Amino acid sequence: MVSFRRVFVTGAGSGLGAGLVGHYGREGAHLGLVGRREALLRERQVECEGRGARVEVYAGDVADTDFMQQSAAHFLGAAGGVDLVVANAGIAIANRVREGEVHEVARLINVNLVGVTNTLLPFVPGMIEQGRGTLCAMSSFTAHRGLPGRTAYGASKAGVTAFTDGLRMELHDTGVHAMALHPGFVDTPLTRDNPEMIFLLDLDHAVRIMASAIGRGARNHTFPWQMNLLKEVVKRAPESIIRRLAPAPRPTSMK
Ligand SMILES: NC(=O)c1ccc[n+]([C@@H]2O[C@H](COP(=O)([O-])OP(=O)(O)OC[C@H]3O[C@@H](n4cnc5c(N)ncnc54)[C@H](OP(=O)(O)O)[C@@H]3O)[C@@H](O)[C@H]2O)c1
Repeated sequence: MVSFRRVFVTGAGSGLGAGLVGHYGREGAHLGLVGRREALLRERQVECEGRGARVEVYAGDVADTDFMQQSAAHFLGAAGGVDLVVANAGIAIANRVREGEVHEVARLINVNLVGVTNTLLPFVPGMIEQGRGTLCAMSSFTAHRGLPGRTAYGASKAGVTAFTDGLRMELHDTGVHAMALHPGFVDTPLTRDNPEMIFLLDLDHAVRIMASAIGRGARNHTFPWQMNLLKEVVKRAPESIIRRLAPAPRPTSMK
């Protein structure tokens, strides 16, 4: 297992991001935390500094390209480099395609996909120079197949996976590894209002699985294992079956 001493995480205030920050914080890493709610990031900072980690906080929006470039540059200066970047920040809506709603979808794509490119790319030159590093993005089970009611969310996550797949191949001779994690359902604020979850994982279990996949340099890791098996069925099933088994969830708006 590789050890990650300098770790930059977006969406670090809650859920999966906070879980990963806790994990690497316990190992004494120098952490960079990104999110819009500064108060949440400061809570994570206090917890991690209490365990001996050093922490930089960047309160802002991952869809803001200049803000993300500046945050990356500051973190590289403060930590003297970076070993692991986790582009985790994301939002979910069940979009209203029948109404032709377009603004929330544009925002979702900006946060979930442009937010990932904004997070990972500023670190690429420095990682190439040091000859190592891991670029990890949070995709989703829904990246494997377009699903009713998750049209835009699934498209954003399929884009994330295509991006990290391409990045890994482009960087294959540099020592820099790019990968994506594909969670099924994990108990976090994002999923709290979703009544239709299967094989639900608690956060600690999900963090152990993610840290293990990152540490061994997985390429695309779908979890838990039941969802990894299910993805093969979902990828091949005819649309008529998908429509019946994955009915469109009630439309929700973004927070
Ligand atoms: N939980 C699941 O079952 C599941 C399944 C598949 C994929 N995922 C993915 O996992 C990632 C984390 O989700 P989660 O479940 O941990 O939910 P969460 O607790 O809602 O975490 C999302 C985090 O992203 C931050 N964020 C959202 N929009 C942002 C923006 N524009 N700029 C900066 N930060 C932003 C949020 O903080 P602020 O609001 O303070 O910015 C929040 O801390 C997401 O990409 C999600 O799509 C989750």
